Amino acid sequence: MPVQSICCIGAGYVGGPTCAVIAAKCPHITVTVTDSNAARIEQWNSDILPIYEPGLEELVKRCRGVNLFFSTDVKGAVKKADLIFISVNTPTKVKGAAGEVGLAPDLQYVELAARTIAREAKEGLTLVVEKSTVPVRAAATISEMLASANRPGVSFQVLSNPEFLSEGTAIKNLLHPDRVLIGGENQQAISDLADIYAAWVPRERILETSTWSSELSKLVANALLAQRISSINAASELCEMTGANVSEVAKAVGMDSRIGPKFLNPSIGFGGSCFHKDIMSLVYLCKHYHLPENAEYWQDIINMNTHQRVRFCRKIVSSLFNTVSHKKIAVFGFAFKKDTGDTRESSSIVVADYLIGEGAEVFIYDPKVPDRQILTDLKLPQITKEISPGVITPEGIVDKSVHICRDPYDAARGAHAVVVCTEWDEFTTLDYQVIYDSMQKPAFLFDGRMILNHDTLMKIGFRVHCIGKSLNHPNKTNGASATNGYH
Ligand code: UDX
Ligand code: UDX
Ligand code: ADP
Repeated sequence: MPVQSICCIGAGYVGGPTCAVIAAKCPHITVTVTDSNAARIEQWNSDILPIYEPGLEELVKRCRGVNLFFSTDVKGAVKKADLIFISVNTPTKVKGAAGEVGLAPDLQYVELAARTIAREAKEGLTLVVEKSTVPVRAAATISEMLASANRPGVSFQVLSNPEFLSEGTAIKNLLHPDRVLIGGENQQAISDLADIYAAWVPRERILETSTWSSELSKLVANALLAQRISSINAASELCEMTGANVSEVAKAVGMDSRIGPKFLNPSIGFGGSCFHKDIMSLVYLCKHYHLPENAEYWQDIINMNTHQRVRFCRKIVSSLFNTVSHKKIAVFGFAFKKDTGDTRESSSIVVADYLIGEGAEVFIYDPKVPDRQILTDLKLPQITKEISPGVITPEGIVDKSVHICRDPYDAARGAHAVVVCTEWDEFTTLDYQVIYDSMQKPAFLFDGRMILNHDTLMKIGFRVHCIGKSLNHPNKTNGASATNGYH
């Protein structure tokens, strides 16, 4: 039977945008997005949405109150639904057995959602769709929980439908996906879900696989993307030593159609809620199946990322005459990438943390991240700090050493150095002469994203350091200047 009513459990970065697009494209379906966090639901129902995503606001305003609803009444929405998306958070475990902490995903929220569904679902068949990234065989666990409710006349089909949206372009990715992946064991259930997407996605892009292939594809896709970044970052260090230019190298290798140009931008390391968590899930799975070489292979992607972050921090300190104590450093960008206010696993956290630990006064500017979020990220011990050799900063020191600025010029005024951590477009159009004039001399600039024109900056007088190109190397040729944004 065609789906007429959808409930989504979890109104986050995945659930919110996904349901807004389904509601816009399927006016005949009622979509209710639920969350146990009342403040979050209140924001979804207000003028200022809880997440920033280009194009999202327009869709929500168009559909909200028509066929798109946001509610804290999880049970009520579950009772009415033909199809339920589970899109709750699945963070990496921070407590538990030694072999699991920092590796295995914490499934407590998935389990709670499954138990609610088991108790409250309507009579007849309900499709339960796993949208959160959960480890392979999670669908089996969800199925078991649903079956254990043992309610006569109530049945479930569990499907895996991983999300490949990327923050900052989520709406575009949802409207024009490279593929939609549906994993399941029951053809009718798969077809019912495929029919929803077919309202706007060409059929040949809707891929049907087994549940296990679908779950694993999500982890492998993210690991391969992250691996490209770690590989180009590894190359960037070699470029700095040899006098090569990583932007030239990335362009040259990316023109090989077997390699392709995307995801080859060197950086201070990848962040975001997915890459680290999904690779750790892969490592955990490999260890679980006694595949140590396999586990080590994936783990090295993370190790290289940590190395890249730390070596950037060390470069800042060593360039500033080996000490940043009591020096003022401006950090441009705190989000894990441009066009999002999300800071989960952001490399900026590691950089700021490191500098504070070295005694610096850090002045942070980001166009989208709320002040409160920056302070929380720096104060609360979290997984990033546990795996990175950055310093765990005591709360009092954060209050004393961190200053949040309204604009980049404020952040840079009187600073010894500017450190570009996020590739926001607006950083490429600032008046760097004005910034230079307002700074202490010698004025340093660290471009952790390769987005600025280094020749121009050096002409102004900056001492410039970047990733993958040594501006003072004896072998330096008059190489191309920076790439601008992603390819
Ligand atoms: C390679 C490079 O492709 C080429 O650009 C370079 O100039 C020389 O090295 P070649 O060694 O001739 O070329 O063959 P290639 O097609 O790259 O295959 C190399 C090996 O990888 C083969 O053993 C091939 O069977 C294997 N391979 C390739 C895989 O196992 N899986 C694949 O998906 C592709
Ligand atoms: C990622 C996947 O792209 C998406 O398919 C999946 O569903 C969720 O995880 P997201 O984390 O939103 O999406 O952002 P992404 O664009 O992949 O960037 C991740 C991190 O890698 C960012 O910190 C980004 O700055 C960094 N990055 C990306 C690079 O350092 N270099 C690149 O070339 C690309
Ligand atoms: P993602 O990036 O995967 O979307 P988020 O953390 O942004 O993750 O969103 C997940 C949302 O799921 C949070 O808003 C959280 O409050 C919500 N959530 C978690 N568990 C439950 C539950 N059992 N019932 C309802 N909402 C839940």
